[in-house]
Amino acid sequence: MNATDRVMQSYGRCCASPAFFDDFYRHFLASSPAVREKFVNTDMAAQKLLLRQGILNLVMHARGMPDTKLRALGCTHARTAMDIRPELYDLWLEALLKTIVEHDKQADAATLQGWREVLVKGISVIKAGYNA
Ligand code: HEM
Repeated sequence: MNATDRVMQSYGRCCASPAFFDDFYRHFLASSPAVREKFVNTDMAAQKLLLRQGILNLVMHARGMPDTKLRALGCTHARTAMDIRPELYDLWLEALLKTIVEHDKQADAATLQGWREVLVKGISVIKAGYNA
């Protein structure tokens, strides 16, 4: 199985695990006051549904889909919009990997390495919109 297939299957198992998105936001919000501050007025139930699609966009991009959706996220997360500073994506990535390890009991080292590559690639597209 290739790396993006492994990641796709792993994401399927994560989405089937009921507390996956709750645990992700628990870890992400715990990672820094700068993260918590961004979500003070957010409906977190709605946000969890949006992120479900957002992560799928990252995975699909790594599988060859055009970067249109990720560029749109780059616009909403840009300095002149929500102002999500680039270093916050490191916290996002580590919180997500931690949550994957907790929820996908079949995720081996190759799967986690595949995830890291998929995420880094997509995040670079979003971050490229920061100063655009
Ligand atoms: C909103 C995805 C990283 C903070 C959103 C939305 C999506 C999304 C799909 C809703 C649509 C939109 O507003 O454009 C992602 C993905 C990320 C990421 C895939 C990583 C690759 C981050 C990071 C932060 C952040 C690092 C830092 C705190 C927010 C905030 C909102 C948002 C504050 C708006 C919440 C509200 O409506 O109140 N994100 N995001 N995101 N994101 Fe992200």
